[in-house]
Amino acid sequence: MLWRFLRGLLFRLDPERVHGLVHALLRRVPAPIAARRRPIADPCLAVSCLGLHFDSPIGLAAGFDKGDVSVAGLLGLGFSHLEIGTITPRPQPGNDRPRLFRLPEHQAIINRMGFNNAGAVACAARLAALPAAARMGPVGLNVGRNKATPNERAEEDYLACIERLHPFADYLVVNISSPNTPGLRQLQEGDALDRLLRACTSRLAALAPGKPLLVKLAPDLEPGALDEAVDVAIGAGVAGLVATNTTLSRAGVEGHPRAGEAGGLSGAPLTRRATEVVRRVARRAAGRVPVVGVGGVMSAEDAYEKVRAGAALVQVYTGFVYGGPAFPRRLGEGLARLLARDGFATVGEAVGVDLAHG
Ligand SMILES: Cc1cc2nc3c(=O)[nH]c(=O)nc-3n(C[C@H](O)[C@H](O)[C@H](O)COP(=O)(O)O)c2cc1C
Repeated sequence: MLWRFLRGLLFRLDPERVHGLVHALLRRVPAPIAARRRPIADPCLAVSCLGLHFDSPIGLAAGFDKGDVSVAGLLGLGFSHLEIGTITPRPQPGNDRPRLFRLPEHQAIINRMGFNNAGAVACAARLAALPAAARMGPVGLNVGRNKATPNERAEEDYLACIERLHPFADYLVVNISSPNTPGLRQLQEGDALDRLLRACTSRLAALAPGKPLLVKLAPDLEPGALDEAVDVAIGAGVAGLVATNTTLSRAGVEGHPRAGEAGGLSGAPLTRRATEVVRRVARRAAGRVPVVGVGGVMSAEDAYEKVRAGAALVQVYTGFVYGGPAFPRRLGEGLARLLARDGFATVGEAVGVDLAHG
């Protein structure tokens, strides 16, 4: 009720301004207070994955914290983990504003932020200053290339980020699926993907043996290309697959005054497509590596569907914008209820149970 009222006020302001205000607040939350207020997840939600412990599958997807490092504030709300980024080696301003659009009628967002961030050096400095108590759950670092770097030299950018950021990351994610950096998604194709991921996994293995490196995929890949990307990525030694990023499709929002804005669409219109992709990726991966399911998780039911489709972990972004600070707690509680209803003792038992159908 209170959140609905507050949201009504906040949604009158420019979305980026609200985002800035929220971080200004969250960044200042002292770790001990965040830890005290952090909801305790039902033990049935605990996940052991990527060699890490997660209190629940529910994490905050990349892009919300692009290097502000509001770790205690965000994990204190009840996310089991947080993915910071996308971080590029050098600072960059991102695309011109406006570049972030709400479509409340559809519980959706269109963004073309373009990896606005302060760069890997600044992000590493903030992470280095982070008190250990703020790390109430795994912190992932999602990395990308600078806009000015051509794809032929992308590898240098990813490796520079990995070198700089790996000491502070519980896991790393190679982002090659943002639609807002021209040409980036071409790195998802066969040989380019193979070369890039092999370079990244072998560098990380040399720097920090055993630290997991994942790759994040787009929801817009054709089924054959998706299968190939999964095989190539696993062949190159990734520890997990994140599916999905935002979509270029406008299915479900046609006719909305902001549907014509360039950028990636997220939220409710992406739910079904992202779940289909999770299912396909999980089926192809066939247990070789875990899948992180992202895209249009707006309720506990949506999170449960991602799990049943094969996601060991579930991340949210747009649902948090619409659902507010209690959203991660609500998802966790709802998911625990759904698992109990269907007779699962742990969330792990439900992972992939729908893979046989659909
Ligand atoms: C404003 C905004 C910025 C984003 N920035 C990034 C980013 O920098 N890197 C990334 O990998 N994903 C980014 N994403 C994608 C999200 O991590 C997520 O994959 C996508 O939004 C689908 O999930 P959702 O429907 O729960 O939002 C961004 C999403 C939004 C809405």
